[in-house]
Parts: sequence; structure tokens; C-alpha cells
Amino acid sequence: MSSYEQVLADLRALLEGERDPLANMANCAALLFERLLDVNWAGFYLLKHGELVLGPFQGRPACTRISLDRGVCGAAARRRTALVVPDVHEFPGHIACDERSRSEIVVPLLLGERLLGVLDLDSPRLGRFDEGDARGLMQVANILLAGSDC
Ligand code: SME
Repeated sequence: MSSYEQVLADLRALLEGERDPLANMANCAALLFERLLDVNWAGFYLLKHGELVLGPFQGRPACTRISLDRGVCGAAARRRTALVVPDVHEFPGHIACDERSRSEIVVPLLLGERLLGVLDLDSPRLGRFDEGDARGLMQVANILLAGSDC
């Protein structure tokens, strides 16, 4: 059983009977923050007027706006693909919201062709995330979007 199977099952249960996207993103961020090991930030940036704006999250307060030409979040949004960054200090343009963060993963929120934002997770551990996390978190994003009125 992959480490995401239980998380995905619990996410489906959390979404049942509720289609409000903000409420569902808030619970999704809380679930990921609680369940995944060595994660110091988990949350959403939502695309608004061509810019990523802070959405529901767990962790320390973070920067509120990220333009698409900045940071890991901007790069993942622009490329519309998951980005795994083993060492944030090696990523040109990385935005340090919490100095404890050493590695990061960002997956785009895609509803068909429409980009809604990104899901972002940070870890204090170098190399915390891999392609398995990218696959698991893409599934998280898909379940979340399918279960919400976006
Ligand atoms: N590190 C991100 C910014 C968001 S925080 O990690 C919460 C980036 O470089 O886009």
C-alpha cells in the first residue's frame, strides 16, 4: 500500500457532502500537514488575475502573492507540471517563506486546460520529496478538484 492510499481515502471521506472549494482546500491542507512526515508547510496558491494568491494552508505565515515568473510555485504554474526540488537553495529564484524549508514540491491544480493554482509542500529535510510524492499529490489535486465546485 503506497503511503498516499490512506490519505487519498481520507480525503475522499472529508469531501463527501461538501463542494465548497475553500472549505475543501482548508481540510485538504490540514490532512496533508498532519499525515505527511517532515512537512513544515502545506497549502494552496490560487491563480487570480494572472498572479498566485495565498489560499488555505497549514504552517507558518507565508508570502501572499507570487507572480508566475517567480519561485518554485510560479515555475510549476507556468510549466503546468509537478516540480520536485530536492534542495531549495539550488533552485534559482526560490522564495524563502520559512527559513527552515530545505526541499519543496509543487503540483499544478488543473481542471482540464484551466489552471486554478498550485498545491505547495515544504520540508525541513533535504530531498524529502520524490516522483512518488508527485504522483500522490497529483491524485490529491484531482480528487479535490473533482469534489469541489471550482
Ligand atoms: N517557496 C515557494 C514560495 C511559497 S512558500 O514555500 C510557502 C516558492 O519558491 O515558490
